[in-house]
Amino acid sequence: MSFASYLAGQLRQPKGFFGRLTVRILNRQNAGQNQATLDALDLRPDDWVLEVGFGGGDLIARMAPVVSRGSGSITGADFSQDMVALCAKRFASLVREDRLELHVASGDALPFEDESFTKACCVNTIYFWPDAAVQLAELQRVLRAGGRLVASFSPPATIERLPATKHGFTLYEPEEARRLYESVGFAGVEVIRGGGRRGEFVCVVGTKPG
Ligand SMILES: C[S@@+](CC[C@H](N)C(=O)[O-])C[C@H]1O[C@@H](n2cnc3c(N)ncnc32)[C@H](O)[C@@H]1O
Repeated sequence: MSFASYLAGQLRQPKGFFGRLTVRILNRQNAGQNQATLDALDLRPDDWVLEVGFGGGDLIARMAPVVSRGSGSITGADFSQDMVALCAKRFASLVREDRLELHVASGDALPFEDESFTKACCVNTIYFWPDAAVQLAELQRVLRAGGRLVASFSPPATIERLPATKHGFTLYEPEEARRLYESVGFAGVEVIRGGGRRGEFVCVVGTKPG
């Protein structure tokens, strides 16, 4: 196995020591993208927000001060047991205060009732979804009417420079993501562009119709 394919596997589902190291690096590298996602969510103190694929938890750390000001809460779903264990330890006080719930779960079969959340988000996970329309429909199912979804990712021109993306990643142009959102019924879909030294990312924002 080449290093690029090993790294691709760790990015898809981080495990063990190398997985923990990888997400520590991602937490730093993706800080600007996570902040842009938080801004696009327009998170309010009373929101019930779901993040799918939270990895090392940088976005959880950014959302926590907002929901802690009101009656809101954060729920995370990640199919890596090691990421759930890592974030359960990192955010033990939020879990104790019932501000944060963490679940080992796959984005295409979320263990939540319909209309459980007012906001939902995912950052750098869309590349690993076997069927993006199924995952988006599942996110739509668990959102309330009027709820907002933000999916953030890097477009091909930025991310295909990384050798790991040749190993099982599916890359999306922002307009393809917009069409996918619309195909599952999200309304008012908007593409917000951002970036920095490491290249471009987008936040695709859509609303579940009321
Ligand atoms: C590349 S990491 C991104 C972590 C973090 N969001 C970031 O941008 O730094 C992808 C994360 O999504 C999770 N993941 C990938 N596909 C998933 C799926 N289908 N369901 C749930 N979690 C998934 C992985 O376990 C991993 O923690």
